[in-house]
Amino acid sequence: MSVLDGKLVAEKIQGELRLEIERLKGEGGPVPGLVVVMAGDDPASRSYVNSKNKLAEKLGIRSELVPLPENASAEAVIRSIEKANSDPLVHAILVQMPLPRHLDSWRILGRILPEKDVDCFHPYNQGLILQNRASLFPCTPAGVMRILDHFGIEPAGLNAAVVGRSFLVGKPMAAMLVNRNATVTLCHSRTVNLGMILREADLIVAAVGKPGFISADMVKPGAVLIDVGINHVAKEEDFVKFCPPSQHEGFKKKGYAISGDIHFQAFAKAGHYTPVPGGVGPLTVTMLMHNTVELCKRSISVTSTKE
Ligand SMILES: NC(=O)c1ccc[n+]([C@@H]2O[C@H](COP(=O)([O-])OP(=O)(O)OC[C@H]3O[C@@H](n4cnc5c(N)ncnc54)[C@H](OP(=O)(O)O)[C@@H]3O)[C@@H](O)[C@H]2O)c1
Repeated sequence: MSVLDGKLVAEKIQGELRLEIERLKGEGGPVPGLVVVMAGDDPASRSYVNSKNKLAEKLGIRSELVPLPENASAEAVIRSIEKANSDPLVHAILVQMPLPRHLDSWRILGRILPEKDVDCFHPYNQGLILQNRASLFPCTPAGVMRILDHFGIEPAGLNAAVVGRSFLVGKPMAAMLVNRNATVTLCHSRTVNLGMILREADLIVAAVGKPGFISADMVKPGAVLIDVGINHVAKEEDFVKFCPPSQHEGFKKKGYAISGDIHFQAFAKAGHYTPVPGGVGPLTVTMLMHNTVELCKRSISVTSTKE
């Protein structure tokens, strides 16, 4: 059983990005620019946005937050997107999810120019992924692929099960694994006999949002377990059920713990597993910076082609 240390992979990619940004600067190129549009003040979203800003600053990426009120109209959100679409200093635009309920996410995400769509949620970019013609991918599944590649886990030929079919994680993850020649079963809340499917899987990617949802008896010995789940566990009884005793000190100090979707007892059976925290999470924000730098570099090649 070995731990797939996401922090290590994230630090390596950040080191490469620092060099790339320095190189761009040295050649008189632009500073990569990211705009984050956030409607409302959801505490979890606020904390994600803060960590994105912090990492952008650390790497030398220009990052701007456009905060909008919870009751912002679709038109107001779209206006912010269009302003960023037409700003040549902005290379990447992210709309923080989830949007308040009254807003139609698809309508809004569809207004980001595909060439500034850092999360790859625009229908054009999602289509490229399905056609296996994409070279940029949504940040969380892209992070999962980086972990697999870093630790030499080749998806080709594996029986993979992805649990969760959100457009953020599960669906693009399944398509990306198929593109890498895994045989993929995409599971969701209406899947019958989930345990039977998972026990056949060489690789499980869990993106459900339920602490400890995948138990040890659902896992094949030696399987690769990738846990995308980030679940806030605040009740003592839930902590005892879902979190390893080694986190107890931290739980007492902070009043909560973070649990993944895979029960920690399953890790003892695994060939390799990502811990929570410290697995996929650090990659998501790092891949956002990676995509921002890529979009910036592409904007240069487009400009020079036009000249
Ligand atoms: N590590 C990171 O950087 C990162 C990034 C993004 C998300 N996350 C975390 O990943 C988790 C999933 O996020 P998300 O945005 O994909 O969530 P989501 O949109 O709520 O999707 C959850 C998925 O889980 C499925 N599901 C729910 N109950 C199930 C069950 N009993 N059996 C099988 N499938 C079931 C749902 O199926 P239906 O479609 O049938 O409802 C849905 O497809 C959350 O904990 C989130 O915080 C982490």
